[in-house]
Amino acid sequence: MRLYPSLALLLASTTTSNPLTAATAGAPVTMLIAYPATPVFNSTYYLSHHVPAVAASWTPFGLVGYRALQSQSQTAGDPYAMIFEAEWRDMDAVDDMLTKTPDEEKQRFEEDEKRFTDTAPVVWFMGVGAQG
Ligand SMILES: *[C@@H]1O[C@H](CO)[C@@H](O)[C@H](O)[C@H]1NC(C)=O
Repeated sequence: MRLYPSLALLLASTTTSNPLTAATAGAPVTMLIAYPATPVFNSTYYLSHHVPAVAASWTPFGLVGYRALQSQSQTAGDPYAMIFEAEWRDMDAVDDMLTKTPDEEKQRFEEDEKRFTDTAPVVWFMGVGAQG
């Protein structure tokens, strides 16, 4: 379904002429996966099942840390129910995850996603501009 195709598209668009790619070559990169606040989003399932499974799968590739940021006012119109903030060693680690994760495992995550949401997440990458 959605997570991996989204990532693949993102990666396809990050060529060497992309300033972000050049700026972050070899540097830590943050991947954000934002799940739209849909009425069916099941935070309990997501936090107790999906996050541990994904973290276990991604850590060997170079996931160095993560936070699952949960909406505190989903009913008041927050755009996202959850934002998964994944810190990767560098873009090569992300590439390894994308190309070396077995197909059946990707399929398992895609199937699992249907158990807590009905809406595709938005996925993108950011680097640190400033920090306090
Ligand atoms: C959400 O997930 C939890 C944990 O799997 C489950 O116990 C609960 O029934 C689910 N809630 C809904 C509304 O599906």
